[in-house]
Amino acid sequence: MRMTSSSFVSYCTPGLCQFMAMLPTAGHLLSLLLVIGTGGTVPSPQVPPRGCYVAKEAGERTFRCSQAGLSAVPSGIPNDTRKLYLDANQLASVPAGAFQHLPVLEELDLSHNALAHLSGAAFQGLEGTLRHLDLSANQLASVPVEAFVGLQIQVNLSANPWHCDCALQEVLRQVRLVPGTGTGIVCGSGARPDLVGQEFLLLAGEEELCGSGWGGARRSTDVALLVTMGGWLTLVVAYLVHYVWQNRDETRRSLKRAPVLPVRSEDSSILSTVV
Ligand SMILES: *[C@@H]1O[C@H](CO)[C@@H](O)[C@H](O)[C@H]1NC(C)=O
Ligand SMILES: *[C@@H]1O[C@H](CO)[C@@H](O)[C@H](O)[C@H]1NC(C)=O
Repeated sequence: MRMTSSSFVSYCTPGLCQFMAMLPTAGHLLSLLLVIGTGGTVPSPQVPPRGCYVAKEAGERTFRCSQAGLSAVPSGIPNDTRKLYLDANQLASVPAGAFQHLPVLEELDLSHNALAHLSGAAFQGLEGTLRHLDLSANQLASVPVEAFVGLQIQVNLSANPWHCDCALQEVLRQVRLVPGTGTGIVCGSGARPDLVGQEFLLLAGEEELCGSGWGGARRSTDVALLVTMGGWLTLVVAYLVHYVWQNRDETRRSLKRAPVLPVRSEDSSILSTVV
């Protein structure tokens, strides 16, 4: 036994021995890296994201993340936040339910971001509490009207490249504008050429954007569908009436014919025998 173990040691080349001696150190380093790694990716809900801080303003719990370089709505916002400032960041979209864990949120500032897309459920869960929403100075060409259904809010929609179509008109029926911000809703370069640069509220006063034109397309499709369905229904009813009448005649006829039938068959048999 001794011989073998000593011979094993003697077979160990200097390089291999060095490597084996380093193994525990490497393992230690690896676990250290893992700890750092998990610490970096799993955010602790107690620690606010970098550039953000909690404040108490006019007795309201406020969470400020202005100019924090954010590209997404951060996690770790305290659930008792009443005012949330996410302005002047690089947010490009607001996903569904982004604020639904903030049950007392009253004021939300998303202005001066790069928002081009809002989920139809972006403000889900805020129906009872949200009062003020700032979406100004973003890249919004349109927003889904569903995003505002059920909300009792005043909203600032200024300084966005609006498409100025029926969808926007429907949104404006759903929300109240912050007083004095109506003139800031101007049609952007993606709008119908004759609308670009125009104030939307003036346009919407003159033109029914949901009646004809772009927005009207959906409505005329609906009408076409209704007419087609009406046509089919008429056809089905006409056929049924026809069928019932024919059957009545047939039944009457067959009732009259019934006693005559055997005679007829005799006739035909006679005929066949004759032939
Ligand atoms: C916030 O979360 C804590 C713990 O989950 C809970 O006890 C508290 O009621 C929540 N606050 C609000 C305002 O929902
Ligand atoms: C609405 O948004 C515009 C553009 O960000 C801003 O200049 C204006 O002060 C806002 N108005 C109000 C009343 O908040």
